[in-house]
Amino acid sequence: MVHIRTTITRRGLGALLAAGLLATGLSGCGNSDTGGDAGGTDKIVLGFSQVGAESGWRTANTNSIKEAAGAAGIELKFDDAQQKQENQIKAIRNFIQQKVDVIAFSPVVESGWDTVLKEARDAKIPVILTDRSVDSADKTLYQTFIGSDFVKEGRLSGEWLVEQTRSATGPVNIVELQGTTGSAPANDRRKGFAEAIAANPNLKVVASQSGDFTRAGGKQVMEQFLKANPKIDVLFAHNDDMGLGALEAITAAGKVPGKDITIITIDAVKDGMQALADGKFNFIAECSPLLGPQLMDLVKKVHAGESVPTRVETEETTFTVEQAKAALPTRKY
Ligand code: AHR
Repeated sequence: MVHIRTTITRRGLGALLAAGLLATGLSGCGNSDTGGDAGGTDKIVLGFSQVGAESGWRTANTNSIKEAAGAAGIELKFDDAQQKQENQIKAIRNFIQQKVDVIAFSPVVESGWDTVLKEARDAKIPVILTDRSVDSADKTLYQTFIGSDFVKEGRLSGEWLVEQTRSATGPVNIVELQGTTGSAPANDRRKGFAEAIAANPNLKVVASQSGDFTRAGGKQVMEQFLKANPKIDVLFAHNDDMGLGALEAITAAGKVPGKDITIITIDAVKDGMQALADGKFNFIAECSPLLGPQLMDLVKKVHAGESVPTRVETEETTFTVEQAKAALPTRKY
């Protein structure tokens, strides 16, 4: 479920862009209300560049976008960037060349987007960021950003740990499996978690490394952590998949996940929820991948030149073992 956090009146650039879109539509070239050149139909044509297929979360997100586009009657040109920024930049340039009506993408990393976003703006194609944001100072380069508050997810994870370790008298050693280096969720979850655990000086991150949001990465880095650190009390993994990979390494090292090592993850996809219900994980902060329907609403609005909120924040919760057991039977992804 998503809710709109900030509503603004039509922004200066949005209005200009909308005016440009209408003007080109009326003059019969470029994008028009009767469909962009890309599709040759009456449908709105959306070019979407996805991060990749690195996790269960990503698969659910891709499915949500494809299903929602079909349901909304929007023609979707879908590109999988295989977790490479250069592939996303290429895809966006292709969308511009094809004169799609709207471009949406989930940026692999936060930095380095200004040039290609300016190219989209020059071509008068509105851009929507989904799931992850960019660090561009010029906020007029995109119309809106729909996605989670990653800092909050990290903070909720850290606050739960602070609560659980209130009676600890000695050091609590934490290892952290970070997401893709330079990505918004890796940067923000790390920040939120660090801020929250500062409340208890016993809590110390003794090792922190990227597992690239994948199971294989989580397993491999956790093996290294276990070899290098004789006492690990807590694992904080930036997503379920890395936590699931780490489970294999922990078990292979003769330790009991969820007991010898407390495990906190983010996402709450089915496999993660199952591990939590089984007591192998201890806590999950949810990150919802079901962004498709709301993205399609935004696509229709920006295409029509209507005002949209600059930020649409996903509504999320957290899960303990008991809550996971209750939620699992109806979990959709
Ligand atoms: O950007 C969202 C993150 O990307 C999810 O938490 C992770 O599983 C995915 O790979």
